Amino acid sequence: MSFDKRQVVYQIYPKSFKDTTGNGIGDLRGIIEKLPYLAELGVDVIWLNPFYPSPQRDNGYDVSDYQAVNPLFGTMADFEELSRQAKDYGIEIMLDMVLNHCSTDHEWFQKALAGDRFYQEFFILRDEPTNWQSKFGGNAWAPFGTTGKYYLHLFDKTQADLNWRNPHVREELFKVVNFWRSKGVKGFRFDVINLIGKDEVLKDNADFDGKPEYTDRPVNHTYLQMLNKATFGQDEDGITVGEMSFTDIPNCVQYSNPSSHELDMVFNFHHLKVDYDNGQKWTRKPFDFIELKKLFHTWGEGMSQGSGWNALFWNNHDQPRALNRFIDVEKFRNEGATMLAASIHLSRGTPYIYMGEEIGMLDPDYDSMADYTDVESLNAYQELLASGKPQDEAFAIIKAKSRDNSRTPMQWDSSRNAGFSKAVPWLKVGKTYAEINVEKEKTGKIFPFYQKLIRLRKTLPIIAEGTYRAAYQESDRVYAFERLHGSDRLLVVNNFFAQEVTIKLSAAYQDGEILLSNYAKQPLDKELTLKPYQTLAILAKKP
Ligand code: GLC
Repeated sequence: MSFDKRQVVYQIYPKSFKDTTGNGIGDLRGIIEKLPYLAELGVDVIWLNPFYPSPQRDNGYDVSDYQAVNPLFGTMADFEELSRQAKDYGIEIMLDMVLNHCSTDHEWFQKALAGDRFYQEFFILRDEPTNWQSKFGGNAWAPFGTTGKYYLHLFDKTQADLNWRNPHVREELFKVVNFWRSKGVKGFRFDVINLIGKDEVLKDNADFDGKPEYTDRPVNHTYLQMLNKATFGQDEDGITVGEMSFTDIPNCVQYSNPSSHELDMVFNFHHLKVDYDNGQKWTRKPFDFIELKKLFHTWGEGMSQGSGWNALFWNNHDQPRALNRFIDVEKFRNEGATMLAASIHLSRGTPYIYMGEEIGMLDPDYDSMADYTDVESLNAYQELLASGKPQDEAFAIIKAKSRDNSRTPMQWDSSRNAGFSKAVPWLKVGKTYAEINVEKEKTGKIFPFYQKLIRLRKTLPIIAEGTYRAAYQESDRVYAFERLHGSDRLLVVNNFFAQEVTIKLSAAYQDGEILLSNYAKQPLDKELTLKPYQTLAILAKKP
């Protein structure tokens, strides 16, 4: 049985959600406390970023024990309690599986370093490094103790890539997934899972074209099929998603088409690179709307035609807030937030909400480099300075691009520390918390709009199941698509700008019904004027 397409997933960054112990760090009991809030929003699944033991060099993506809970976040009993209580609310848990690499503190790496041959085969060791660059800056190879060899780390040097070619490694990793399945976990998000399949002979990257020698290798599909068969493929009602780095449509169709028995759906990031200058993240450039549209259309249609399935998202723990990137938030935060939400929740795929998005949270607007903690941001700042950028320019780039932007504490109310913690939070609260917080927004414009979108997906099969077709392709202001299901048609038009725009409406939709809008209802006519950041969904039923 395949997963339920009416589901909506909510992502929680546990470290920043709710602190109940007073150590400034969010915890599992904090999530339990907020289950009623999540149920009120209406989400079906909560994806939790890693809470396993870890030196926290990359905030938990450097796992040193896959089958335990980091005391920072609570205990295994807390997790079991969370899992039980969530189910009572009809909410399933999705865990983050970081199976491409483990922390160099993990006992596998430590044993390998101490000379254990069996565990040395767990890692990717070479006498001669390739020219690969780490995604967090610098070379992707580091000396392996005093052996004269090098180990591969596509991320930080404390995150050693695991050797999936070794059957013992696969066996151990499958055990990890099954351990959590045995605790009743039904959902899994697989971290950078299109990087696990490395070739036997590793070759230098020709040019860095965004798709180097270790991405989407054919063997990657084989490993995913093995993983599926040995673990979650045995569940009737599971839900799985793979994070795909620099990927393409043919591979994503294969990863997520049910007939390949790999994953239920995929995340790709192309649409979140439209404000990169020359493909480079650590730059600043206004977003390229035409490029954004093109990407949504080619992915929407390509995945629809190939029967693949997309995870739809604007925000996550690695991205600055979409509101700050795509919307004039000074004037149109409500309109922009609701338009962005509708543009993915009414599309084909499974929508993901990142904590705080449902209340329109913004980047924190920090004043100094000292406020940032993320390893990638700190490295990037040093590299920007080294490349000759003046300090203020380097800081402006970090401010716009840092992953810390989305990792700030959840804004619950206007009390001290935004109601997140009684202690000083591990990462500073955003400046706007007195105005933007759950308490206020529940009766505002954004939260109720999200509730409505979630309800609509559950009640209208055209939203959950319909195919995707591009619309108004020639417009340089409007991103629009149609969903088709039986004889029903749904048109969703989104004005991505702060100015009004007029479009022509076809006869079928002139007689249609407005399903949803983020402005007051308007008559449907031959011409339709969309207000700043307006979203409008029109349902046309054949008589
Ligand atoms: C993924 C995670 C990111 C992490 C990286 C390495 O991209 O989302 O937070 O740093 O993988 O595990």
